[in-house]
Amino acid sequence: MIIAANLKTNLTRKQTTEYLNTLDSLIDASNSTQEVLVFPATSSLNPHAGKVIVGAQNAYPATNGAFTGEIGSEHLAEFGITTILIGHSERRHVLGESQEELVTKFNFYKDLGFKIVYCVGEPLSLREEGEEAMMKYIDAQYEGIDLNYKNLIIAYEPVWAIGTGLTPTSKDIEDLHSKLKEKCSAPLLYGGSVKVANAKEVLGLKSVDGILVGGAALNVEDFNTMINFAQEIE
Ligand code: PGA
Repeated sequence: MIIAANLKTNLTRKQTTEYLNTLDSLIDASNSTQEVLVFPATSSLNPHAGKVIVGAQNAYPATNGAFTGEIGSEHLAEFGITTILIGHSERRHVLGESQEELVTKFNFYKDLGFKIVYCVGEPLSLREEGEEAMMKYIDAQYEGIDLNYKNLIIAYEPVWAIGTGLTPTSKDIEDLHSKLKEKCSAPLLYGGSVKVANAKEVLGLKSVDGILVGGAALNVEDFNTMINFAQEIE
């Protein structure tokens, strides 16, 4: 399975280095064969040689240029980064990235052969409007994305479940994931308030190929426990 940690705007470079080294030792000690991805804050990126795959939370769709505040692909190349998160709810809703911008970013990093974790998910108001409105909203987030891209991973993360402690029921996750699997055969992760207490149940669902964990992954032992759950289930 794929077990991913989105560290968001947390952990300095020093703390991130410690985090990654500890995680690698824990993974080595348990002989885990799970695919583990960690997305540190941009200024905490560093070359990393262990089993953990380090990815970028964001980058601009350009090699370099006049894009104040952004980094380009050459800045990722400096650290050997070939994995990127695109379409995260905070990028869409807090930073205001449009579907069109996300598609441009997706295509740019696809052309470079990056492993792309592409996130989709509905706000609460859409879920409350009912199934049809919710699916229409999620469908629009697939627009323009090459669903046959071989290095694609999709993460379904309901906006209302991110960082709130709320999660859909297992049945709701299973139903929604089954629908998303019909659209695209790429591995499908669930994200949104996954923690040690619920990770085993989520990972045990048939249509869940892994998890994307935010807050609960900041504790490296907890994150490793979730990796071990995936190993037991597989
Ligand atoms: P959370 O975040 O686990 O803190 O809910 C998940 C995410 O944003 O990827």
